[in-house]
Amino acid sequence: MKQTIYFDHAATTPLDRRVLEKMLPYFMENFGNADSPHAFGRKAMSAVDSARDKIAELINARKNEVYFTSGGTESDNWALLGGAYAKRREGKTHIVVSAIEHHAVLSAAERLEKEGFTVTYLPVNEGGRVETNALENAITPNTALVCLMAANNETGVLQPVGEAERLAHAVGALFFTDAVQLAPYAPVDVKKLNADMLAFSAHKFYGPKGVGVLYIKNGVKIEKLVGGGEQERGLRGGTVNVPAVVGLAEAYALARAETEETNAKLRRRKELFLKEISALDGVHINGDSENALPSVLNLRFDGVENTAFLYAMDLKGVCLAAGSACASASVKPSHVLTAMGLTEQQAKNSVRFSFGKNNTEAEILRGAELTKETVERLRGFAR
Ligand SMILES: Cc1ncc(COP(=O)(O)O)c(C=O)c1O
Repeated sequence: MKQTIYFDHAATTPLDRRVLEKMLPYFMENFGNADSPHAFGRKAMSAVDSARDKIAELINARKNEVYFTSGGTESDNWALLGGAYAKRREGKTHIVVSAIEHHAVLSAAERLEKEGFTVTYLPVNEGGRVETNALENAITPNTALVCLMAANNETGVLQPVGEAERLAHAVGALFFTDAVQLAPYAPVDVKKLNADMLAFSAHKFYGPKGVGVLYIKNGVKIEKLVGGGEQERGLRGGTVNVPAVVGLAEAYALARAETEETNAKLRRRKELFLKEISALDGVHINGDSENALPSVLNLRFDGVENTAFLYAMDLKGVCLAAGSACASASVKPSHVLTAMGLTEQQAKNSVRFSFGKNNTEAEILRGAELTKETVERLRGFAR
């Protein structure tokens, strides 16, 4: 059987077996609805409670500030829309988001624009980072909410969230950060960040898909999006997905316990990959890779169309992406790369490699060899 190599961990990660073990009892034996007032319900609620405790402790929050959602997309939508609607009551109708946010944020921002809010999209420099003066220029006394992701999903570049927080709070705006990509690789401390809201998602750190967190600081008022039962302190209706929540907490605890080990390994993998392909000319790293996640490498190969490259690599058993998974089926050039000043053509020459803790050295060597071969072959066709 052909060996398959997975270099698309920014899109999703496989479930860690230790996480699965913790989840399993909550599918069949302890299947109760956490809101049911009987023994099955109590067992389920106790598991949800422990998961909430664990997450709260790990992100330095209070337990009642942790809300479980269906993942990063819902958390982002909730933070943007719920935060903006609440602030509109104070007469504030201006939103600031970076131009390189995930589509979950951008689509919510577009919706707010249609509903009468004004939205300022923060530009980034050529390294893919928002600069302080861009924040200073954008934020006004009418700003209701500032949203800046902690790390970008296409380039891995870390963003100045401390600056964004300070400037947002100086005008009484809410500060929200999407930490979906950062959370697997760095501790998140909501007190230090002083965020009003923060989002992350389990499937990016070897947890289950379809479950995430929105941290909402006590005292911060946001409107609910999902109405229904009184779950999640009346702010997010719907029967809690108990196995998923249990898995989320376990996966996050493991990610934290193993952060240093995982990151050191990923750095070695990334360096090895770069060394192995260094014989190729016309290769550029997109984004400031010195200030980026240890897992992500966004590369541009002159003269190579990413659609052809991805297809050829997939045929050889190497799975990777042009950018975010949600946009990977489309041929539109990446909004992140074009915001960094790349031309549409350069964006279409770019590919994201995102390595994971289970990638072996042998996989890196094989992946690099196939990358070299494929780039040379495609350039040969183009001549
Ligand atoms: C930065 C960022 N935000 C939000 C999301 C959406 O998260 P989910 O897949 O859990 O809906 C992703 C997923 O790719 C992401 O990378």
